[in-house]
Amino acid sequence: MKKLKVGVIGGTGMVGQRFVSLLAEHPWFDLTAIAASARSAGKTYAEAVGSRWALETPLPEAAKDIVVTSAVDDMAAIAGQVDLVFSAVDMKKEEICALEEAYAKLECPVISNNSAHRWTPDVPMVVPEINPEHLDVIPAQRKRLGTKRGFIAVKSNCSLQSYVPALHPLKDEFGLNRVLVCTYQAISGAGKTFETWPEMVDNIIPYIGGEEEKSEQEPLKLWGRVAGDHIEIAQSPAITAQCLRVPCSNGHMAAVFCSFDRKPTQEEILARWAAFSGRPQQLALPSAPKQFIHYFADSDRPQTKLDRNLEGGMAVSVGRLRPDSQYDYKFVCLSHNTLRGAAGGGVLLAELLRAEGWLD
Ligand SMILES: NC(=O)c1ccc[n+]([C@@H]2O[C@H](COP(=O)([O-])OP(=O)(O)OC[C@H]3O[C@@H](n4cnc5c(N)ncnc54)[C@H](OP(=O)(O)O)[C@@H]3O)[C@@H](O)[C@H]2O)c1
Repeated sequence: MKKLKVGVIGGTGMVGQRFVSLLAEHPWFDLTAIAASARSAGKTYAEAVGSRWALETPLPEAAKDIVVTSAVDDMAAIAGQVDLVFSAVDMKKEEICALEEAYAKLECPVISNNSAHRWTPDVPMVVPEINPEHLDVIPAQRKRLGTKRGFIAVKSNCSLQSYVPALHPLKDEFGLNRVLVCTYQAISGAGKTFETWPEMVDNIIPYIGGEEEKSEQEPLKLWGRVAGDHIEIAQSPAITAQCLRVPCSNGHMAAVFCSFDRKPTQEEILARWAAFSGRPQQLALPSAPKQFIHYFADSDRPQTKLDRNLEGGMAVSVGRLRPDSQYDYKFVCLSHNTLRGAAGGGVLLAELLRAEGWLD
């Protein structure tokens, strides 16, 4: 299979660095362009990132000497040079909307980590194991944009990446109707490290702007369906969320409470989690975890530090399933926010798009 040439716009930031490290040695994609703001343009990637490199692995050799361009000023050149771009820019919402749409109109598909287009009705927001069929809305989007090849596909917010996978295999069969979730989110989710955010050492901040709304509403788009030229949003379950910033470098944890129309047994829930295999597993996509949901029987697991990197940070860890006095059940989930929750989820989505012919 011929490798596709790919670019990362916003490649110098926290999520962009993850994209670069995942793409530097990818079997299907060849990283040939990195773009960021005008501040970084003209420098090599190593110079532009400098001391901001925040990953535990070294800056990849294959990316070091790529000359960073401007995601805005050099757009036409970048779009002409690659087969698709991954977007991880941090700009105003309307600027990101316009930028991503401009790349798509230049016939360069955009796989975005940003929230800007998540509620555009004909933009699929996809977790590949959960709603791969939403990609069928792409022809309607192409018609609106007037493109043959270009389109935008997005991934959902990192906060819900731990608990929506655990709820999904139970939802239809048992009639999931009510969810309460509290998330405990790592500082890399704000693009920060303990060096750049020392106030987070020995601290918890009980507010993450916009996160509770995303945690409550985005699952309903994931659980929606393609209806002609748009995604129709699901009407249930009712979800309420509180999102806290906690002093962890990486890994978002969630404490979940849920109720059903037909209450399953604990054994039935565990069996659904063990058997949950989505299209990425069936297609054996390069970034897909072999087992999407790992259940830990030990009552002190999952732990952020021990379990966030499971299956390359692409699996979801679950534990502490037990009955609750107010809801039917409660349990705890964990996922890596910049791998499965951001860049890894974006790369997996691109692999699905390629495997299903959307990037031809
Ligand atoms: N961190 C996470 O876990 C996470 C998870 C989900 C979603 N997100 C979203 O992903 C996006 C990136 O997050 P991040 O944490 O990686 O942010 P970040 O570390 O602040 O990086 C921002 C990136 O955007 C570039 N940029 C800023 N202004 C620009 C402009 N005017 N034109 C072109 N490029 C510009 C920066 O380039 P320079 O280096 O040149 O300034 C940098 O590459 C944000 O929208 C964020 O909300 C983050």
